[in-house]
Amino acid sequence: MKILVTGGAGFIGSHTVVELYKAGYESIILDNFSNSEKAVLDGLTTIIGQSVKYYEADINDAAAWDKVFTEQQIDGIIHFAANKAVGESVKEPLKYYRNNVAATVLMLEKMQEHGVSNLVFSSSCTVYGQPDALPVTEKSSVKPANSPYGNTKQICEEIISDTVATEKGLKAISLRYFNPIGAHESALIGELPIGVPANLVPFITQTVAGLRGQLSVFGDDYPTSDGTAVRDYIHVVDLAKAHVSALALLLEQKDKNTYYDFFNIGTGKGSTVLEVIQAFESSTGLKVDYAIKPRREGDVTAVYADCTKSNEVLGWKAEKTLAEALADAWRWQVAVSKR
Ligand code: UD1
Repeated sequence: MKILVTGGAGFIGSHTVVELYKAGYESIILDNFSNSEKAVLDGLTTIIGQSVKYYEADINDAAAWDKVFTEQQIDGIIHFAANKAVGESVKEPLKYYRNNVAATVLMLEKMQEHGVSNLVFSSSCTVYGQPDALPVTEKSSVKPANSPYGNTKQICEEIISDTVATEKGLKAISLRYFNPIGAHESALIGELPIGVPANLVPFITQTVAGLRGQLSVFGDDYPTSDGTAVRDYIHVVDLAKAHVSALALLLEQKDKNTYYDFFNIGTGKGSTVLEVIQAFESSTGLKVDYAIKPRREGDVTAVYADCTKSNEVLGWKAEKTLAEALADAWRWQVAVSKR
């Protein structure tokens, strides 16, 4: 079975290509390499022992979709390709509405035109904002987005759900990711932030590698156990496996004309920023140079997942620990620094 992986050269996409291969699927990557490097393809070839077919094209390019769908018999799409920098989305909202929303509309139109019916969509726990109660279940309410990035995830979920409701054959699942971290155990693929990382774990590894100055811990006055904000950090390989489970569930619905559902994909465990730093230090034996700084605008206090629904319906569960994820992230950083 052929699965089109948009953004397949990216952080989560590349790890998903590996897990798809292990589960017996063939991946076709569609990526414009705007936020990834071609070297990812070499890493994938080494890990899976064969090259992965790819199309270098933009998801806003209607002709590119036609070319892929004409040349390949695609059974399903996992749609990762999107912009994801919260701060940038505030400054350049139209870039986010174009690449995240408009391109998703185009993809759905092209799926209908070419009769492609299965879709797994990359969503985010950002749709819950600061939840009223923790852990967050899929029944928790969606809160008004506090960035254009977050808004694009909410809008895309609605667009997909509305399209499924037309009963024209589209079946879809949205996966609401918590905080993906870590890297493949081979250290051949991982996260490659361009410029100064906005996310915590790449900033930690780059600081320890000497590529960045001190890590700023944004706020120690939150109402949490140590005053720093709480997130649910999930190993990217566990997250990648959730996509394979979602795809399998979609394919099981083949006799149905319509199917849409959404799932939390996290570990169920919240960790504070200081706990992440401590876990990094104890799993690598290295010190993280950090200082407490004011809160970062737009950050929520705490969010972590209840994953009962994904455990029961998807038959998926996160297996790797925070310590393993941080050790893998560090091994990847060391490998990247040697290049
Ligand atoms: C947010 C979104 C997530 C989105 C991601 C994209 C939420 C809950 N999550 O993740 O959906 O996919 O952005 O980038 O809105 N921190 C520091 N110092 C740093 C960097 C981060 O202290 O240098 C802290 C943050 O304040 C936060 C935690 O570390 O408390 C995690 O931050 P980050 O890795 O940026 O992820 P989120 O903001 O949770």
